[in-house]
Amino acid sequence: MAQNDLHHVCSFCKRDIKITSQYDLPIYDPQTGFAICKNCIKDIYQLITDNEEENAKIDRQRFINDLDSVLDKNRPHIIKEYLDEYIVNQDHAKKILAVAVYNHYKRMKCMDKKDNVDIEKSNVIMMGPSGCGKTAMLSHLAKLLDIPFAVTDASSLTEAGFVGADVEVAVRNLYYAANKDIERTEHGIIYLDEFDKIARKSGENNSITADPGHEGVQQALLKMLEGNVVEFTARGQRKHPEAPTTKIDTTNILFIVGGAFVGIEKIVERRLKSNDSSIGFGAQVKDKNEDSKYDELIKQVTPEDLMKFGIIPEIIGRLPIICTLGTLDEDALLRILTEPKNAPVKQYEKLMSVDNVTLKFTEEALRAVSKKAIARKTGARSLKGILEEAMLDIMYELPKSKEKRQVTITAECIEKNAAPQIEVLASNEDDSVEEKDNFAG
Ligand SMILES: Nc1ncnc2c1ncn2[C@@H]1O[C@H](COP(=O)(O)OP(=O)(O)O)[C@@H](O)[C@H]1O
Ligand SMILES: [Mg+2]
Ligand SMILES: [Zn+2]
Repeated sequence: MAQNDLHHVCSFCKRDIKITSQYDLPIYDPQTGFAICKNCIKDIYQLITDNEEENAKIDRQRFINDLDSVLDKNRPHIIKEYLDEYIVNQDHAKKILAVAVYNHYKRMKCMDKKDNVDIEKSNVIMMGPSGCGKTAMLSHLAKLLDIPFAVTDASSLTEAGFVGADVEVAVRNLYYAANKDIERTEHGIIYLDEFDKIARKSGENNSITADPGHEGVQQALLKMLEGNVVEFTARGQRKHPEAPTTKIDTTNILFIVGGAFVGIEKIVERRLKSNDSSIGFGAQVKDKNEDSKYDELIKQVTPEDLMKFGIIPEIIGRLPIICTLGTLDEDALLRILTEPKNAPVKQYEKLMSVDNVTLKFTEEALRAVSKKAIARKTGARSLKGILEEAMLDIMYELPKSKEKRQVTITAECIEKNAAPQIEVLASNEDDSVEEKDNFAG
């Protein structure tokens, strides 16, 4: 070899470099004459790996230590109590989610023990009618948790190569929710909303022919659910071969998927009827109203029904916990208007108090709002819109004066767009006047 004749001195240890084989060749920069010998490279390598291992150990230990307090804070009843502050009814779903999240933390803790009892992941599939609180519940849960949690709309996902987002986006969202911490990302929770939208259109529910696009999305999602290394580029960066990527192992990520699964109740009903045609379920529920019939049917969804709906069996197998949410009745809607921490009525009261107005809704008014929402068949989703329609004129007219007033919204305001009752209060009527005057001025 020609280099054998060359004489090198290591820039670090200043030793002559003896070259007996090609592996002895130093890292050498001919322009500057800078060289490092094999021994020094080894030492540097050792230093770096030792340090990395040490840091990883410290990180890991900190994580495990934190986990005890995290576990304590996230016991199921505590998660449910938190959800109760925002979400009305749906107790069953709250319990399932609370337990799923708690078990997810417990799994992390147990993974460190070497007793060979692996706790399997229990991904959750949630279904329930439009506007019953699926998305709302998961977004509130996200705020509570100490681990990264990201919500991705599955209906925006497409198979690689199609216009739209690749399924990796779900993992990327989690990675950003974890402040780009890979270790945290790999223990996070992904919620795939509108999951029913990726059902195969050729499922029994739909008569249109093959739907390769959605099948492809499901296949790609399956890889994630099974636990694989998912690779993605930074946000806003186009995918090209040289683009730097981040790799995340999805093995320990908990997946929760949810959707309305419109029409699945018909699949259940058909199955139940064909199982027992004479005294079948269909006969029993004939007298019930549509909503309670829907609720009873959806509670009995089986993996086979989901398959008929157009979800591939391998995915269903990865979602062992089926969780159903009920339709919200008039009473539930009434409570949603007033009870949650951020209830719409509380928000309007606060808004109007700025204009020196004490806002009151009669019970009949709130009931009228609920009735209107039920007629629209979008659950609690239309409540805010209905209130907004009724409140627009009030929010426009009342700030014209700074007088202290009490405004009562009656059922007529909601039903017939009638004007609300306005009562001017004497400015010295109660003790809080001073405070309010200050506020107005
Ligand atoms: N059970 C509930 N309790 C409190 N608010 C609810 C409930 N269900 C729905 N809402 C409200 O209605 C709106 C729509 O609900 P959302 O969760 O988006 O419905 P979906 O089940 O279709 O995902 C949200 O603003 C949410 O706050
Ligand atoms: Mg939703
Ligand atoms: Zn050296």
